[in-house]
Amino acid sequence: MDLAQIGVYGLGTMGSALALNMADHGFKVAVTNREIDWIKPFIDEAGNLAKNLTSFDDLESFVLGLAKPRVILFMIPSTKPMDMMIKAVSPLLDEGDTIIDGGNANFHDTRRRSALMAEQNLHFVGMGVSGGENGARNGPSMMVGGSDHSWTQLKPILQAISAKHQNDPCADHLGPDGAGHFVKTVHNGIEYADMQGIAEIYMLLRDAANWSPEKIGKLFEGWNDGPLASYLVEISAAVLQAKDSITGNPITEIIVDQAGQKGTGRWTAIEALKLGQSGSAIEAAVGARAWSSEKQTREVAQSMLKAQTSAANIPTNDDLAAAFMVTRILGHAQGFRVLKAASDEYDWSLDMARIAEIWRAGCIIRSALLDDISEAFQGSLPQGELILAPVIREILNTGIGSLRRVVSAAISAGIPVPVMSGALAWYDSIRTARGAANMIQAQRDFFGAHGFKRVDQDGNFHGPWWG
Ligand code: 6PG
Repeated sequence: MDLAQIGVYGLGTMGSALALNMADHGFKVAVTNREIDWIKPFIDEAGNLAKNLTSFDDLESFVLGLAKPRVILFMIPSTKPMDMMIKAVSPLLDEGDTIIDGGNANFHDTRRRSALMAEQNLHFVGMGVSGGENGARNGPSMMVGGSDHSWTQLKPILQAISAKHQNDPCADHLGPDGAGHFVKTVHNGIEYADMQGIAEIYMLLRDAANWSPEKIGKLFEGWNDGPLASYLVEISAAVLQAKDSITGNPITEIIVDQAGQKGTGRWTAIEALKLGQSGSAIEAAVGARAWSSEKQTREVAQSMLKAQTSAANIPTNDDLAAAFMVTRILGHAQGFRVLKAASDEYDWSLDMARIAEIWRAGCIIRSALLDDISEAFQGSLPQGELILAPVIREILNTGIGSLRRVVSAAISAGIPVPVMSGALAWYDSIRTARGAANMIQAQRDFFGAHGFKRVDQDGNFHGPWWG
């Protein structure tokens, strides 16, 4: 029997799609699954790709079916099951073997697991995979964290099966241990902000301008032909124009306005705060999902709390597009700042240009903007800030008035726009040389004798309230 080049454990949606993608690219893949009755239907449905797939009913024979040094991709929940799997599989492995967690793991777990595996001379890779089922089957974006040794093993397979942006594979080794999973986490944080930004414009047009879902969908469809071209704008245009098969009404009219979340967006916000940062647009998007789930409270509150709105000037289509572009840039910029802070903290030396490049195809946030962002990171950035790169600041300087008009219109109409207003608040904070923190420092000194710096002398001082 030919030994397989890679093993895939876990034949759920993502694991199956990745295994088929590998087989489709000519790799010999060993597969197995905890519930063994999933295996036969998977092989049966693989059609002529089955020739590149070998299935096993137990972990031990699965491991023995792999060429050494072995590579095993685990597509199982990245929580307790991953820890249990490490325990079960480690004794079966040999020095130099690599196991990969391809789920949305918390990067702290990935760092811990990498250290644990390294003690046994085994390699642990934390790999972020973006693009959903279709991406996994036809070309995902993959963010790899792990050792150089593992990357040498994985590179030919991952770069073959990944999405390509003008022939450039959207899969790369980004750093050691948790780097790949962290980059994926921030990808999802940016994803949340982008999704919520689109949802805010939808709500403004729906409730303040009485636009139909189809009309909003058509607007987004038009955006997708220009600088806002992106997967998320494209699918938003599609969902707004889709009809419910039961009632014939627009599908968005029958979907309950309560958003789920699995945790990655929240982790981005949490880690940003831990790193002394604030990704206000990302935090706002996480918060908006949390508030969305409080449906009952909102229903009760609607009749109890007044809006006191005034007639809003409905923004022009050009203003809406420019406002969304500025919001999108600020959300991305905040994500990259979180990446920079983590890279410094954990010594990852993350290459921001490369990250932007591997997000240009395959992943959920793929967009035309990421071309500009990857180019901007290749040039010199004033203060290292993406928002100060010439090409980016030109878009911001042109569109910021539009964002103000859109946020003002939403505020007048009582439409919540937490991501757009959070992004705008950050923009105004970061572009203002003299802020209001002198007041905060005075307050801190008054109640806690924390001291402050003076504008005209070095040293630590107290105010007159301390005699
Ligand atoms: C992707 C997606 C994918 C998934 C997340 C987000 O990049 O392919 O981000 O990983 O959609 O699980 O899910 P939540 O919205 O449930 O947090």
